[in-house]
Amino acid sequence: MSSRAASLRTLATAILLTTISTRIAAQSPLTVASPDGKTEVSVGVEAGVLRYSVRHNGSNVVMPSRLGFAFKGAPPLADSLRIVGSQRATYDSTWTQPWGEVARVRDHHNELRVDVAESKALARRFTVAFRVFNDGLGFRYELPDQPAITDYEISDELTEFALADNGSAWWIASNRPRLDRSEQLYSEGPVSTLDSVQTPLTMKFSNGLYVVIHEANLVDYPRMFLAGPRMESRTLRAALAPWADGVKVRGHTPLVTPWRTIQLADRVENLQPQLLTLNLNPPNKLGDPSWIVPQKYVGIWWGMHLNTMTWSSGPKHGATTANTKKYVDFAAANGFKGVLVEGWNIGWDGNWIENKNAFTFTKAYPDYDLPGLAAYAKSKGVGLIAHNETSGGIENYERQLEDAYKLYQSLGIHAIKTGYVADTVGGGQSHYGQFAVRHHRKVIETAAKYGIMVDAHEPIHDTGERRTWPNMMSREGARGQEYNAWGAEGGNPPEHETILFFTRLLAGPMDFTPGIFDLLLKSTGEGARTPEQSRPRTTLAKQLALYVVLYSPLQMAADLPENYAGQPAFQFIKDVAVDWDTTRVITGAIGDYVVVARRQKGAPTWFLGAITDENPRTFTVPLDFLTPGKRYEAEVYADGAGANWRTNPLPVAISRKAVTSATKLTVALAPGGGQAIRIRQLP
Ligand code: NOJ
Repeated sequence: MSSRAASLRTLATAILLTTISTRIAAQSPLTVASPDGKTEVSVGVEAGVLRYSVRHNGSNVVMPSRLGFAFKGAPPLADSLRIVGSQRATYDSTWTQPWGEVARVRDHHNELRVDVAESKALARRFTVAFRVFNDGLGFRYELPDQPAITDYEISDELTEFALADNGSAWWIASNRPRLDRSEQLYSEGPVSTLDSVQTPLTMKFSNGLYVVIHEANLVDYPRMFLAGPRMESRTLRAALAPWADGVKVRGHTPLVTPWRTIQLADRVENLQPQLLTLNLNPPNKLGDPSWIVPQKYVGIWWGMHLNTMTWSSGPKHGATTANTKKYVDFAAANGFKGVLVEGWNIGWDGNWIENKNAFTFTKAYPDYDLPGLAAYAKSKGVGLIAHNETSGGIENYERQLEDAYKLYQSLGIHAIKTGYVADTVGGGQSHYGQFAVRHHRKVIETAAKYGIMVDAHEPIHDTGERRTWPNMMSREGARGQEYNAWGAEGGNPPEHETILFFTRLLAGPMDFTPGIFDLLLKSTGEGARTPEQSRPRTTLAKQLALYVVLYSPLQMAADLPENYAGQPAFQFIKDVAVDWDTTRVITGAIGDYVVVARRQKGAPTWFLGAITDENPRTFTVPLDFLTPGKRYEAEVYADGAGANWRTNPLPVAISRKAVTSATKLTVALAPGGGQAIRIRQLP
């Protein structure tokens, strides 16, 4: 191009830009509201900085908060910005989950796409898409392929959440050395005191509004943490888990980020279930999900945590052929579909956390007959769940992935439990960085190809992957039951699960592994443990209630089979459903109590679970969710006389009563207690 042509073109561009920016400058900020009109998002540019804000019921929720990126080797994409266009749309559709807390999900939202350009020399462009639902909103960045951004290295996502209220937050840290996982007890404190925390981050504003920040559809991008406010402000910043060299995201445009989500609930009862993140994930890509079976399972597992069995070979080896047969027989006799076996594969001898590359995922220890047991289980209508602990050795695992899953498929093994016990993965990478996110997707997609369901421990947090890949069943990603077995750790306090329900479980299902009946842990052989030692800090009835409260499509009956012998309360674990048509939170207070009712998928049967912290409580529960005019029978598993988590956790009182939709049930919980109820329609 001649220099005259070039300068004419520059002039023309300048005139165009002036026209656009004049138009924009004269514009009020763009806004988009939820279908019910209660939530409104505004997006605008001031002094070249792009910001969004959120209001709900006329009150500020998020004050104007910055959007943008910082790059390695390129200027930040965060100033000299202009809005150059926008598009709007409304969507309303309903889709069906193959399994879940609810069967039908309505996706009703208004969308606003805001096109942004830099007025500086690079003239980079991107779009921020906002979707506003009645239960909250999501927004994400879309960076198209363009000459000024091809290969990129993002050093920071500059997204901020300037909270309008110094509300209470229930949080776990994201920056603890050697604790780069999510297995921590929750703390509660004002937003302004947060340092560096994980999502979902649940907050309660002083006007009673619940606000939850999380993310949806995490693909080829690092997990988002939230960095705390600086200088006593209330502004949280997106903090992405880095690569080992400090870069956060690398790739080639186009880039579409995960959705940043802000769930809103006027009442605690509306916090669960969380459907916003599911609606922000693409629909099923797996095809026919009929082979995916939500189920209850038992496993060669608790014995290792009690130290009466070992994962490694030797005299206490848990995964022997004989022992596995015993578990298969037990599962078959009690209607459980799965048997998890840990320690079956070679690699556990010595320090298995350090010897990550020693794990094989296809070769069994000599005392474990893998094909014989798979066939034996199948003959009894049970499936083995193959444990794949990687100790963070992602490369070692990926090298074997296809062979292992092919083998499992050929043996009729349709479920795996993965594990990533390690401070870092893949030789020094963050547990939660882009490298790890890519790996977890690869596992889900490869497993789908071979007809395998996944239960991930030490996972990346759930961002709704199950909508696209319904074989992604459950995860750990919080302090589960296992902490109650371990030495001087102290176990989980009685309030723990009442917090999990409103925090971790908002991300998605959790493989908590309830159902310990030997609450004094006598089966360690060391005699009864005192309350000061590690042991489950619940009553037995609360262990039952956890099946209803803590949702998972894979629910373990975690105790040793012998501990269920002669226990009438075991009937509830046999009966409880794992797949639901409807979920209703009856009442709850974070850290204090939860009462939830769920209707079994495809049946007129309801289950009710109620749990409390260390305080006894009594609730009056109207059964108005039952169908009027029908008669029902409630089978009640309540805390027995004198029960309490500290000194007397075992008594359970089992009773039956006739109920209807007009019944108001009195539900009394002991300290650290719970209640589990099955309500069946009578003919
Ligand atoms: C930690 C997991 O949470 C637990 O379930 C498993 O037994 C051990 N890692 C060994 O993989």
